[in-house]
Amino acid sequence: MEKTIIAANWKSNKTKNEAKNWLEKISLKDFSSSLEIIVFPPFTLLDFVSDFVKSNKLPISVGAQNVSPFEMGPYTGEISASQLREFVSYVLIGHSERRSHFGETNSLVRQKTERVISEGLTPIVCAYELSQLEDVVKSEIVVAYEPLEAIGSGRPENPAVVNDFGKRLREKFNWPVLYGGSISPDNIKSYLNLENISGLLVGGQSLDENSFMRIIENAS
Ligand code: PGA
Repeated sequence: MEKTIIAANWKSNKTKNEAKNWLEKISLKDFSSSLEIIVFPPFTLLDFVSDFVKSNKLPISVGAQNVSPFEMGPYTGEISASQLREFVSYVLIGHSERRSHFGETNSLVRQKTERVISEGLTPIVCAYELSQLEDVVKSEIVVAYEPLEAIGSGRPENPAVVNDFGKRLREKFNWPVLYGGSISPDNIKSYLNLENISGLLVGGQSLDENSFMRIIENAS
């Protein structure tokens, strides 16, 4: 059976101490083996989080929130997929916040996805419209459907609309599809029961360890 993905996107949040508290509390929890938990810390915490997870043998995977479209080299401020490979197994690409605040285009998303795949990492490509995925490589990726109005608004998309997006993508490419946008411990079940949805990408409600633990509990 395919595992259900529950991903925590910390965005531009958390200091090292805050990450340590979160990990210490989460590590006390029993995880269902049917879940694939992935945490996406900011770059500054990748080393710390991946080390903590490995040394405590936590059943948690680590991911990066962004990646350079280039290989390692003279690109000031960028972090390449081959550098990330030391710490992560997943990479988020083309989150709507990157598209809107940093001008990421579909072709940049494609370039980044190719780099990530060539390093043997799994890209989670975010989109709010099917057309944003037309350009993307047609190999093994995970898609996160995140409608703009649902992100951080407390107004998640209607589950039927989410399921329909997942169905259309599955029919076309057979990619696993996650849903993200105002997921909370209280609404999680309505999305996890959807036939065409393989997991969830959680932003705001993943920051507080207690609410994230409730999410894991309700997903188990
Ligand atoms: P949210 O964010 O859960 O705070 O809506 C989701 C995301 O942007 O990945």
